[in-house]
Amino acid sequence: MKKILVTGSNGLLGQKIVEILAGLKSGGIIATSKNTDKIVDVKGYDFELLDLTNHVETAYIIRTHNPDTIINTAAMTQVDKCEEQKAECWRINVEALKNLVKCSNNINAHLINLSSDFVFDGTGGPYSENDIPNPLSYYGLSKWEGEKIVEDQADKWTIVRTILVYGVNLKMTRLNIVLWVKNSLEAGKPIRVVNDQFRAPTLVDDLANACIEMAVREKTGIFHISGPEMMSIVDIAYKVADYYKLDKSLITPISSAELNEIAQRPRSTGFVLDKAKKEINYLPHTLEEGLKIT
Ligand SMILES: NC(=O)c1ccc[n+]([C@@H]2O[C@H](COP(=O)([O-])OP(=O)(O)OC[C@H]3O[C@@H](n4cnc5c(N)ncnc54)[C@H](OP(=O)(O)O)[C@@H]3O)[C@@H](O)[C@H]2O)c1
Repeated sequence: MKKILVTGSNGLLGQKIVEILAGLKSGGIIATSKNTDKIVDVKGYDFELLDLTNHVETAYIIRTHNPDTIINTAAMTQVDKCEEQKAECWRINVEALKNLVKCSNNINAHLINLSSDFVFDGTGGPYSENDIPNPLSYYGLSKWEGEKIVEDQADKWTIVRTILVYGVNLKMTRLNIVLWVKNSLEAGKPIRVVNDQFRAPTLVDDLANACIEMAVREKTGIFHISGPEMMSIVDIAYKVADYYKLDKSLITPISSAELNEIAQRPRSTGFVLDKAKKEINYLPHTLEEGLKIT
């Protein structure tokens, strides 16, 4: 079994990958994140504090642990924050990744890098792996620039693009769509949700397992990994309300223009999943199935 180093291990995806790998008793797990370890009730992994914007420290930790595979889940992921703090976004999503590519090459490691449906403009979905990106937001631009660096400069690489990830870890560091809707409605708080953006919500367990499969099978190239169903974001909210038997009248559907978020979002994304189905037997859960697991 392989020795795998995970960056951003405190995040939604990072925690899930470490939890699953620990259950598999894989060859060695090094969880790394910028802040102190947030994973609870999981044993059998080593943790290292690692701020990827510190290039010297990154090189040292990677050389010391010498993993077979590096799964890079760390990123500045808040789309509006990236729009407002462009320099910081670039430092993490682009420059730190460029250094990570160098560090991976130095030890002949396989680099698996997470990217996003936000590299696309949302006019031509569902997208397949060879469709041409055209990001609308600075976040999307930074993720696409990161992809190009990985593709051009990494010796052994995989890019995993995903869409609107939801799920639960024992210690949540950030709300996702399902938890935001659930927590708000449970608290009796009204929410406004867009009705003109369409996504394929992705269960974090499906995404984590797909990343691990790519590591184990040494799959390279670009892969699209998402849930199997496209729906509007407000329909996701309604499904969550139905599932948990919460008050749907607290949900107000609104247009993207009315919501007027800082960063522009693609109208409709969604992925063609044929490649992942064929190459790693990817079988994603529907939202309803995902809610049962969550
Ligand atoms: N979630 C989604 O809906 C979604 C959709 C499309 C693509 N993606 C992509 O999927 C990947 C994983 O997303 P996620 O939802 O798991 O993200 P997340 O929950 O926001 O976690 C990202 C983690 O990155 C870490 N990080 C940030 N800056 C860092 C730095 N300078 N050095 C080291 N670690 C740093 C943070 O660690 P600390 O907590 O320790 O500070 C954070 O926990 C990202 O590449 C994201 O762009 C996510």
